[in-house]
This record gives sequence, structure tokens and C-alpha cells, in this order.
Amino acid sequence: MELIPQAVALLLKWFQENKRVLPWREKREPYRVWVSEIMLQQTRVEAVKEYYLNFMERFPTVEALASAKEDEVLKAWEGLGYYSRARNLLKAAKQIAKEGFPSTYDGIRGLAGVGDYTAGAISSIAFSLPRPAVDGNVLRVMTRYFADDSNIDEPATKKNFTEVLRRAYPKEAGDFCEALMELGALVCVPNGAPYCGACPWQGLCKAHLSGDEERFPVRNEKKERKIVNATVCVLERDGKYALEKRGERGLLANLYEFPFFEGEADTASFGEVIAKKKAKHIFTHIEWRMTGYLIKAHKFFPQYEWRSAEEIVSSYAIPSAFKAFTDWIR
Ligand code: ADE
Repeated sequence: MELIPQAVALLLKWFQENKRVLPWREKREPYRVWVSEIMLQQTRVEAVKEYYLNFMERFPTVEALASAKEDEVLKAWEGLGYYSRARNLLKAAKQIAKEGFPSTYDGIRGLAGVGDYTAGAISSIAFSLPRPAVDGNVLRVMTRYFADDSNIDEPATKKNFTEVLRRAYPKEAGDFCEALMELGALVCVPNGAPYCGACPWQGLCKAHLSGDEERFPVRNEKKERKIVNATVCVLERDGKYALEKRGERGLLANLYEFPFFEGEADTASFGEVIAKKKAKHIFTHIEWRMTGYLIKAHKFFPQYEWRSAEEIVSSYAIPSAFKAFTDWIR
């Protein structure tokens, strides 16, 4: 399997003409590229843009980030999800501030929170190294191009296409890496028909030439999400609200929430219910179906921290899973 030079040239030309204007594309400086690639893990480009701009304003250099408190970084991350990314970012920033930004693939791969994909992306984009970044989007593009029915959930498939791409890498490493991502995001899309009429590879793509583009990629069947019913109690007393810190492990570890109970809770024992609403939040493997209650508490229950709305908004990172209920206090 080889990606021919003509395919590489067509893709680079397409990218020059069609790439989106994105804030992290203004300068390919390692710190900026690294932060953007961490934010883009598991999060859509549209959702990342504004966080990225705010984050760069708040922490313009790796030194500024390295000297921040974890709570400040979590606050800047509030709503982006997968918060271990923010903790790892801070951890890696401290290392980089001391030792400088690593400039080899292995050095980059060694940073906290950086896996194969992100190490490839940073290596290519910030250092022009011939290291592919291969994720589900790139595997979709590649399996269609070759009409290859390897299962993309198998590590051997990723390994194979990483090597195929590595052999094809042009000197414009950053553009090539981002062009593959861009093609997967804009043209060779999942779920339904891809936009083959707009694709620079329409004359080369085996899946397209045989009208089979929707047969690829082949992958494992999806597991169903576990459904968890829960009760969220927004307790208010004298303009203060009850918060608790989640446990050190598991979903949304160490972040703040309103008193949260799996299953039902005895709301009457807290006070008088003023409002009620339902909300759901979908995580990768779990779906929360929550019933929230706004309650006038009949005392300051001592197991909780009581904070004003202003304090919560300025200093506490409350996951967007609870957005429907934070709306009550804003
Ligand atoms: N997804 C991951 N990295 C990206 C990048 N640099 N540009 C656009 N989408 C991406």
C-alpha cells in the first residue's frame, strides 16, 4: 500500500485553497500548537475556538501556565470536558518551563496527556517532523482511499496506516498532517454520504471509484451506553448555594457539583422545592438522566460548601453536565 506523490500534491493544494481559518493556525509555535492539540482531543473544532482564544489570553506563555494554580486552569477549562486534560497540561507545562519544549517525537510523546496522535500532530505541525497523526478521521479517509476493509478498531490497522503515511510524508509536514484532518472533517465525513464531488482524491479513491464509500471504515459494533438516573439538588439559603467536590476518581473527578445522588433523593429533607427540571448529559460510556430541584434550604447543611453565585461563577469549575441547573443561579 502506497500513497502516490500525486495524491500528496493534490491534497496539499486542496488544503491551501480550502483550509479553515482557525486561531491556532496563525502561528506554528510549539506552545500554541500543543495547547490546541490537547483541547482538540475529543472536542470539536467549533467548540474549541473560543476556549483557545481565552486560554491564550489568560496564559500567553508556557511560563504563565506553569505558575498557575490547578483551580485556575480548571476554571479556564470549565465546560470543555475531559478535565484530566487540563491537569496534565499544567503538569507538562511545569516540565516544559524548566527544560524547554521537547523537539523530538519521543520527547513530545513523553509529555503528560500526549498520546500517539497528539505527539504526531505536534511533531508535524510545530517541528515539521514526518510523524503522522492517525485518529478515527484519518483512518476513515485512508480506508476509503484504499477501499481497505481492515477493522480500524484494531491497533494493527492504525500501525499500518501510520507507516503508509510516514513513507509518503512531504517536506510540508505540518500542512500534510492538518490537510488529512481537514479532509476528514470537511469532505470525507462519517455518517451518511461524504462530499466526494469536493474531494481532491475523487479520481484516486478506490471506495469512490467503485461507489462504495459508505462501506468504509469497517469497525467494531458500538457498545450501548450505561444509563444512570440521578438527582441534583440546588440548595439555596440567603443567596448562597451548596457545592460539593466530587471524588478523586472516576467521572469528573475533583470538580465541583451541586449535591448529587444516584437514583432518587429525599428532597423534602433539605427544604422547600421551588422548581424542578430534567436534563441529560451524555459521556463517552455513560448517560446521566438527571432530575434537578431548586430548593430553599431550611439550614446550612454542614457537609457542603456554601458560596454566592458570584463566587461560583468566578472561581468554581462546574462541569457543563450541570449546565441546565447552573442556569438557575446565573
Ligand atoms: N483536530 C485535531 N487537530 C486539529 C487541527 N490542528 N486542526 C483542525 N482540527 C484538528
